[in-house]
Amino acid sequence: MSQQAARVPRRVGSQPDPAWRSATADLPTEPRSVPVARRLVRLVLGSWALYDLAAPAELVTSEIVTNGIAASAAVRYPSVRLRLASQPYSLLVSVWDASPARPELRDGAVDAEGGRGLVLVAALAERWGSDPAEDGGKVVWAAIGRCSQQDTRTGSAHPGQDPS
Ligand SMILES: Nc1ncnc2c1ncn2[C@@H]1O[C@H](COP(=O)(O)OP(=O)(O)O)[C@@H](O)[C@H]1O
Ligand SMILES: [Mg+2]
Repeated sequence: MSQQAARVPRRVGSQPDPAWRSATADLPTEPRSVPVARRLVRLVLGSWALYDLAAPAELVTSEIVTNGIAASAAVRYPSVRLRLASQPYSLLVSVWDASPARPELRDGAVDAEGGRGLVLVAALAERWGSDPAEDGGKVVWAAIGRCSQQDTRTGSAHPGQDPS
């Protein structure tokens, strides 16, 4: 996992750079990547002293990574890319996968077999969504805590989305 230390925010137009700190990890499309992703979130948020965000961030990451793994595997791509980016009191979790298919929020009915993951994400995140990635696939993102609109523009705020 690469980690960027805290740095003075660069100005982008009139807004501060969204990512004071960021960390990325490429994870294989295997079930064990989900607990690995959760541990990474706990470690990174601990190092950024974002303790209050750790529990919701772990849950959100778990759901988005699980979905991303299925989506990349469906198009026979071997990995997903997890990125955590933060400002002092907020976190943007984003996961690139190789599939262009978009996530669909289901109604999460109690008797439904699946479809509760994104319901949980929607409940825990301030905002969430997905954007096509420039080099193919897409990024599913969730903003936890107080994020500015700029934070969620994952297309440009996602260095290294390139799966190659
Ligand atoms: N990263 C993704 N790529 C493609 N489709 C996705 C992705 N994430 C979610 N989806 C779609 O949205 C649906 C709902 O996702 P979710 O609420 O996590 O429920 P579940 O994973 O149990 O089906 C999935 O069944 C899938 O069709
Ligand atoms: Mg799911």
